[in-house]
Order: sequence, then C-alpha cells, then structure tokens
Amino acid sequence: MILISSDMQPFSPERSADVRKATGQLRQAAQERHIMVGSAVRDFPLRFSSRYRRLLGGEFNMLTPENAMKWDVVHPQRNTYNFSQADRIVDFASKREFAVRGHTLVWHKALPSWLTKGNFSPDELRSILKDHITTVVGRYKGKVYVWDVLNEIINESGQFQPSIWHTALGEQYIADAFRIAHQADPSAKLFYNEAGAEGLTPHTDAVYELVRKLRSQGVPIHGIGFQMHIDAVEGLDYEGIRKNLERFSKLGLEIHITEMDIKVQDLPGTMEERLKVQAEMYRKIMQVASSIPNFKAWVQWGLTDKFSWITDSLPAGKKDSPLIFDKYFRPKEAYFSMTDTLRRGRKPGGK
Ligand code: G3I
Repeated sequence: MILISSDMQPFSPERSADVRKATGQLRQAAQERHIMVGSAVRDFPLRFSSRYRRLLGGEFNMLTPENAMKWDVVHPQRNTYNFSQADRIVDFASKREFAVRGHTLVWHKALPSWLTKGNFSPDELRSILKDHITTVVGRYKGKVYVWDVLNEIINESGQFQPSIWHTALGEQYIADAFRIAHQADPSAKLFYNEAGAEGLTPHTDAVYELVRKLRSQGVPIHGIGFQMHIDAVEGLDYEGIRKNLERFSKLGLEIHITEMDIKVQDLPGTMEERLKVQAEMYRKIMQVASSIPNFKAWVQWGLTDKFSWITDSLPAGKKDSPLIFDKYFRPKEAYFSMTDTLRRGRKPGGK
C-alpha cells in the first residue's frame, strides 16, 4: 500500500514508520547535555509542507533562516525591507519557544545589486550598514537568541576576505557592526561565524587573534560559530578540532556548530557504505564538540537531504546525502550515532 503524504511524497508504510521512530530522541539527548539542536529552515517548505513542519517541530529546538534574513531577501531596495519570509520562520520558532540563530548581518555574498552597484561613498556605506543592522536586529528584538553578526570575513589563508565593507570602511566596520547590533538588541548574543575553521590552521589562528583583540577592546562578541561544511573524502583531524574549539571556549566564548553537513559524493563504495562512514564522522564530531565546556548548539544546514545547498546543485553524475534525515524524511544512521554519543556522554577517545 502506498500512502501519499500531504507533501505529495509517495512513501511506503514502513518508511512513514521511520519518521515516528525519530521521535525527538536527538533533541532529548541533547537537552540532557544542555545543548540545543537546530536546522536551517527554508520558507517555501515551511509554508507548504506539513511534513516539513512536523519533523522540524518534533526534532529540533533551534532554527536558522537559511536565506530569509540575508540582504538580498530582507533589503531588496535601498529604502525597502521585506521581512515576510523571516517573519514566518521567527513566528514558527517563537510559537514553540525555539531559539533563533539570526543569519547573517554582514557577509560578502547574497548582496542586492542596488548595494553592490551603487558606487556609494564610505560615509554612505557606513550609514547603510548601520541602518540595515539597526532595522533588522531591532525588528526581532527579544526574539533572536543569537546573531551571526559577521560571516566569513577571514579567508583560508588567514587574510581578510575582500568585500564591499572592508574595501570601503577598513577594519573599523568589524567592531562597529557588533556595537550597532548590541545597541539594537542588548539581549541577543552576538557571534562571529566562520567556514572552514574547524582545525588548528593559519585560518583559525587569524580568527582567534581577531576575536581575542575584539574582546580585549570590549567589543560585545559573545560567541563563535563553526560552520562545519565537511567533505568526508578529506577526512578530519578530530584532535585539532577539539584543541581549536577549546581555545575559543577558554576565551569565554559560547561555541556553536552552525551549518553542519557532510558531503559523501566523492567517497568510494556504495551509498550505504558511504553513509556508514558519514555516521561515524557525525558521531566523532558530536563526541568532540560535546566535550567542550562552552559548546551550546549544533545546527544542521538543512532539515533533510531534499533541502540542502549541496543537493541543490550536484555535479553531473554525482549523488549526495549530507544531512541526518534522508529525502524521504527518514532518520539516517548519522541521526542515531549522534544521539547515542550524546546519551553516553563520552569524552573523545571513549568507546
Ligand atoms: O529565491 C531565489 C529565486 O527567486 C530564484 O528564482 C532562484 C534562481 O536565481 O534563486 C533563489 O535564490 C537562491 C537562494 O539560495 C534561495 O534558494 C540564490 O540564488 C542562491 O544563491 C542561494 O544560495 C544559498 C547560499 O547560501 C547563498 O545565499 C544557499 O541556499 C545556502 O545554503 C547558502 O548557505 C551558506 C551560508 O549562508 C553561509 N555559509 C555557507 C553556506 C553554503 O554556501
């Protein structure tokens, strides 16, 4: 018998049973360790798929608008803001008392053409940036647990990433962005969010120095987000990750994994074999992260493999399955391996 779900997803009864099996076990195990678990959220499926809403509401307690709060969506014209998508996601979270990760106030991507092609002077850009942060943060005052104030401003060689902001305003915009956000919502935690900054590298050394300097200047920065977009074929230095997260934790910063996914498209073997490798990587990363004193949140960069930036644009002939629920909304081995690790509360190197 094939059931047609309200999401037009044909699935067999045993498949639908899988969704019932993942009855919030990961969230429960995480809560017992005082860790929030979340997912990036897309407005379209949130609006039109009851199955999406059910899984999201049943499995997580933190949400990040994947794209709804980026400049190109919320600030489409210089004097026009559009919060319709972001409001729906924040409302969904608020009704369930879920924490919201606001993403992101300052980035070199996802910028509207009125901004990138506006030929604005530094003073005009400074004013536009202040207006944007004040308006966006102010709108969700008291509703957003943490803002990714700056995203990916240091590249893998440890240099500042060229951007419209840095080119025009110099380094000063960094501290200014945090101070403006803090003024707009003193209750929100303010984070720096970084890609590819998981281990001990010149990249993370530069991020560490930046954040240490900001803290020494009294800049209101409360935490750091490690995106964790992992490619399984590259392998991971788990001890390096632990040491890196630990040194930021020792600065007194709250630590979040903010955009977790593990690509398996370039691994050898069958998809089943690849997902076993993936489950073990998820387990080990959770084991390392949950051993860090100030580690407080783990966010998947998408609810299921059907809603992932990785599967949105796969190279020809490639298949991938980067998240912890598959495209049929079923929990994968990674879901259970992480849950099991949290329950055992093991330190790295444990059995
Ligand atoms: O909404 C428009 C749609 O109207 C239009 O028809 C379509 C085709 O042009 O584009 C749609 O916008 C796309 C948007 O995702 C929503 O689907 C953008 O083109 C596309 O660039 C955007 O990609 C997002 C990307 O950030 C850039 O904003 C990905 O979904 C999102 O997963 C990715 O997430 C980033 C984090 O924010 C920062 N860290 C890295 C991570 C992965 O790149």
